[in-house]
Amino acid sequence: MNAAVRAVVRTALTGGAEVVGIQRGWLGLSEADAKPMTSRDVAGILHTGGTVLRTFRYPDFTGAAGQEKVGRALKKLKLDGMVIIGGDGSFRGGAVLDQKFDLPVMGVPATIDNDIPGTDFSIGFDTALNIAVDAVDKIRDTASSHGRIFVIEVMGRSCGLLAMEAGLSTGAEEVIVPEIPFDLDAICQRIEGGYDRGKQHAVILVAEGAAKAPYIEYELKSRLKRSIRMVVLGHVQRGGSPSASDRMLATRFGVAATQMLLAGERGKMVGMVGSRVKTTALGSRSDAARKQVLAHQEMLRLLT
Ligand code: F6P
Repeated sequence: MNAAVRAVVRTALTGGAEVVGIQRGWLGLSEADAKPMTSRDVAGILHTGGTVLRTFRYPDFTGAAGQEKVGRALKKLKLDGMVIIGGDGSFRGGAVLDQKFDLPVMGVPATIDNDIPGTDFSIGFDTALNIAVDAVDKIRDTASSHGRIFVIEVMGRSCGLLAMEAGLSTGAEEVIVPEIPFDLDAICQRIEGGYDRGKQHAVILVAEGAAKAPYIEYELKSRLKRSIRMVVLGHVQRGGSPSASDRMLATRFGVAATQMLLAGERGKMVGMVGSRVKTTALGSRSDAARKQVLAHQEMLRLLT
């Protein structure tokens, strides 16, 4: 996100605009908490995790009272346009700003879940995927030396893409995702079949939106006479220095969204489609992420 903030600030300044950074997301906006941003304010942040603007979960904005508060803050701030960096919830809010409050908004997709319609990738996904892959590779060393089964829970909210791609990238035996109903008896049969064919261990990834790892561990322990452990990767997946690929994505998105906003475009989100930056309407819907998970699952079955 910081790479995107830097790109937005510097592109806007170069384009002759004044820039303020809204602190703590929607909560900060509702309190008109905006800080002037210079080029120096975004120096040295490209490689850092988190966001210098900070953020906040703010469900209040979905209600009338929250929206009124934001409306009052917008009058005070006198903004001419806004770039919103976030996920689908942020863009639903962005559509309200654009349509109800007539504030031109451009969106930049950022979530490790990679479930935003209109882009092949969102900022953070590649970094989180690499963190998960690194963790699973390390856990596999113990799985292999102890001949154990490991159940590893991966984030992703209601989308299984992060878990699925982590599974494909680490050669996991099973990946449990919310998009596909799972059958624990069938999973156990496949795992035992693997041992019969000479496998010495098994790694099962479970997307947090499908089930919790302790539950899967408990159920497997009641069905299999094997040593089983579980690990929840948790928020470690949301931190650390971003991958080069995420830095590039964030930079391209930040520059493009800001240039478009300065050129008078609004109500859209930038996205990467193929290798090009394209736009879609803010808050669009699609089941592309789901289809991708299903296609990946077919590939996984071919390979295990
Ligand atoms: O949506 C991004 C995400 O990282 C999900 O993968 C995860 O479930 C959630 O946010 C965690 O959010 P919080 O830190 O608010 O619990």
